[in-house]
Amino acid sequence: MTDRLDLKSLDNAVCLITGANSGIGKETAKGLVRLGAHVIMVCRHPERGRDAQAEIQAVAQTAQPSNADATDLRIADLGVQDEVYRLGESLRADYDRLDVLVNNAGVMLGNREETTDDIEATLAVNHLAPFLLTHLVLPLLKEAAGRTGEARIITVSSEAHRGTSIDFDDLNAEDSYGMVQAYGQSKLANILFTHELARRLRNTGVTASCVHPGVVATSIWDGQDWLSRIARLFTWLYKSPEEGSESVLYLAASPDLDGVTGQYYRELDAVNPSPEAYDEKAAARLWRLSLEMTGLEDDVEQAERGPGSP
Ligand SMILES: NC(=O)c1ccc[n+]([C@@H]2O[C@H](COP(=O)([O-])OP(=O)(O)OC[C@H]3O[C@@H](n4cnc5c(N)ncnc54)[C@H](OP(=O)(O)O)[C@@H]3O)[C@@H](O)[C@H]2O)c1
Repeated sequence: MTDRLDLKSLDNAVCLITGANSGIGKETAKGLVRLGAHVIMVCRHPERGRDAQAEIQAVAQTAQPSNADATDLRIADLGVQDEVYRLGESLRADYDRLDVLVNNAGVMLGNREETTDDIEATLAVNHLAPFLLTHLVLPLLKEAAGRTGEARIITVSSEAHRGTSIDFDDLNAEDSYGMVQAYGQSKLANILFTHELARRLRNTGVTASCVHPGVVATSIWDGQDWLSRIARLFTWLYKSPEEGSESVLYLAASPDLDGVTGQYYRELDAVNPSPEAYDEKAAARLWRLSLEMTGLEDDVEQAERGPGSP
């Protein structure tokens, strides 16, 4: 699969991918180890994580026998902010660089659920977790960029962002909840975040991009809501997870994208996202709210001036 893409070697590169135990995330992790990377897999369930790690490690052994230490499994529920903070702390303790961060984990929920932080779960997992984790590992990304000239942040968004806007009056979906709005809003938030991040990281060597991987047959369609039930009827038409991982790997390792930042890709093509994704005021407002909702606002002064901040 990746043979038809001209991807660079990731020997000596440290990559992190969330949601690495299934679907697009697992196949992306396999692609990254095939390219020689050391992959930090972030998974929420220890057993599912260990099973996937064994599978990915076996791929690494076959493709790159010298890459014996190809994977590192970290367990964290990304919907629980304390766990994301702990993850960030342990990563900063154990690693001195991060070349590629892939914010991939995501949910699409038929009914409104709340996290232990009292946040609607789609917003929490799909937007706030990438926002928080990116901030927490940014010093490692900047360190990698300082050494090699670049580091990449990739967030897996979706064409489902089209037709939605950020509902600032009811961001937490307390007044009304709809799966399509909540999921679409979170995927629009991924793009607004990427645009704002790219602006803030200009001239640091750290780039930020996001991608719609195609419509892919994964467990994201396993819900019991009407849309998922209908969507499941057609999964035979969808891309395989391996095909879905292709665009993520392209963003992670294509030499064509060296220094390219702030772009939205539909599969392998840079395209314009919806007009709402270019709303700089909305991006700034969402950024500020996200700082507050993740507890980062206490550090905002330092975060906006200090060495580790975007
Ligand atoms: N499939 C598509 O057609 C499609 C299209 C556009 C965009 N996407 C995006 O692609 C990304 C990957 O989704 P997928 O299609 O590969 O679905 P998937 O197979 O369901 O993978 C989602 C991954 O996210 C993890 N995850 C969910 N909630 C988590 C949490 N609270 N903490 C940690 N990990 C969590 C899941 O872990 P568990 O196994 O423990 O649940 C799983 O590993 C998502 O961001 C999705 O929005 C998918």
